[in-house]
Amino acid sequence: MAYETIIVDIEDEVALIRLNRPEALNALNAQLLDELSAALADADRNDKVRCIVLTGSEKAFAAGADIKEMSTKSYVDVYDADLFGAQIDAIGRVRKPIIAAVSGYALGGGCELAMVCDFIIAADTAKFGQPEINLGVVAGIGGTQRLTRLIGKSKAMDMNLTGRFMDAAEAERAGLVSRVVPAAKLMSEAMAAARKIAEKSQIATKTVKEAVNRSYETTLREGLLFERRAFHALFATEDQKEGMAAFLEKREAQFRDR
Ligand code: CAA
Repeated sequence: MAYETIIVDIEDEVALIRLNRPEALNALNAQLLDELSAALADADRNDKVRCIVLTGSEKAFAAGADIKEMSTKSYVDVYDADLFGAQIDAIGRVRKPIIAAVSGYALGGGCELAMVCDFIIAADTAKFGQPEINLGVVAGIGGTQRLTRLIGKSKAMDMNLTGRFMDAAEAERAGLVSRVVPAAKLMSEAMAAARKIAEKSQIATKTVKEAVNRSYETTLREGLLFERRAFHALFATEDQKEGMAAFLEKREAQFRDR
């Protein structure tokens, strides 16, 4: 399928998806979100893809939802369309791991989109923020919820109430991003991480994703039980036999997703 607002490349079992609206710092308009959710669903179905990297440009991962497109909408318009709901839920349903590679601005919906991904690798130029408060609204796709779970109430309140930006070093200290790298190395680092994930058993990587995400949605007791049963279940796979045999035979495992 031909896209106008994103660029998709598949190489070495990794789908690299670039947001591509440079004229608006990759602001998320309806077309971009439709195309992105379709491309991610495609990558999820594509047997040649085992991990996904989502990125923007050097200047902006994404500067938020498209303010021009939203500015004249009424409550009825956005409620009726469930603005952003369907696309962001579709992205959240992708089962293959998604790494966000963030350089420059990740603001509002841009920060929220990065948080829907499974983890964030940031360039040292990255700036995160939830500046919706400056527009007279609040975050709409996870900025008061996912951000609070990731960095805690105090910092999430600070970000959402003041609208200030957080630099990459602070984002790493706060636990919003998993690693910070020099801007020039962002893509090589993100692609290397994705290729490493792509080498693993896909049944196991999808199970990791389900189990870690479960930790947000249930009690510790239920989450631990889910994890234990998932661990037990993987003993039914050929990949568990192969992974453990490879360790004992001191060789690389050849996983077959079975
Ligand atoms: N929507 C639409 N257009 C945007 C945009 C956005 N979120 N962010 C930037 N742009 C456009 C600008 O309007 C400008 O276009 P023109 O040249 O046609 O005027 C172009 O991108 C370049 O932007 P700037 O000239 O502003 O660039 P800058 O370097 O001076 O500033 C910035 C960069 C600090 C990111 C600034 O653009 C900015 O503050 N952007 C808006 C950030 C924001 O408020 N995001 C939240 C959006 S609401 C939201 O996301 C709701 C939600 O939770 C779902």
